[in-house]
Amino acid sequence: MGWTRKDLLTMQELEPAEMGLILDTAASMKEIAGREIKKVPTLRGRTVVNLFYEASTRTRTSFEIAGKWLSADVVNWSAAGSSAAKGETLLDTAKNIEAMSPDVVVVRHGAAGAAQLLARALKCAVVNAGDGAHEHPTQALLDLLTIREKKGHLEGLSVAIVGDIAHSRVARSDIHGMKKLGMTVTVAGPPTLIPPFVQELGVKVSHRLEEAIADVDVIMMLRLQQERMTGGLIPSLREYARYWGLSRATLAGARQDVLIMHPGPVNRGIELAPEVADGPYSVILDQVANGVAVRMAVLYLLVGGRTQL
Ligand code: CP
Repeated sequence: MGWTRKDLLTMQELEPAEMGLILDTAASMKEIAGREIKKVPTLRGRTVVNLFYEASTRTRTSFEIAGKWLSADVVNWSAAGSSAAKGETLLDTAKNIEAMSPDVVVVRHGAAGAAQLLARALKCAVVNAGDGAHEHPTQALLDLLTIREKKGHLEGLSVAIVGDIAHSRVARSDIHGMKKLGMTVTVAGPPTLIPPFVQELGVKVSHRLEEAIADVDVIMMLRLQQERMTGGLIPSLREYARYWGLSRATLAGARQDVLIMHPGPVNRGIELAPEVADGPYSVILDQVANGVAVRMAVLYLLVGGRTQL
């Protein structure tokens, strides 16, 4: 199949075949990272604008590297230091950016639906790089690529997503992608951090870490998003770390071939003990590396580059 969408907004709307196309394209892009000269002419003359209203290390940097390796011109815009600080709205900002003729706008914003709003308003392609607690589709795609690489397949695998499910756009995107691709998903965390609607997404729910991780192929630990909490959801960081932090001791009950994942940034010593984050089961930096390949694939498919790689 070929790519037909103008934008990439959610995993919820993607068909399994579309996910497969992105993953296969990303897998073919990975070879570029190993070249001495990491540059192909595929998107020469194209312009990508990264429009980031929230902080980011991995997503913004990897979109920038992805665009540059494909020879696109990449512009990084951030709210700090822009006219957003003078009160310019998201839509006005985006329309002014569009007046400068970009081919792709990659947007991260604290409001759910921000990417959809821009996709409707702009003629160029729009990529959702995270909208509030709603979705983060390219994170889910790089997670799927990493699991597929390490396990050889996706269908039939089991995943435990652990921690702050309530505030996690990564969890939502992962759940949509994993369920559509035939994986079994358990979400685990304290009741205050598991939204009631999550069972409607076809996942199991557990309130015990040891139970959730006992027999799964993948453990996805999530960051405790204190900046999105209005307060009172956990008794204390110390207690959260004690019951929900993954340590060498709790990991003893997991499978010998389990993969430990985390979208980053990691709160070391809270959701992940340093020896687990840096340990033999961790594929966290593989996820980061795959972020570049997935974002190259997404830019390539959206902009319709047809030049030989
Ligand atoms: N995983 C992720 O979105 O990381 P950043 O916030 O650093 O982009």
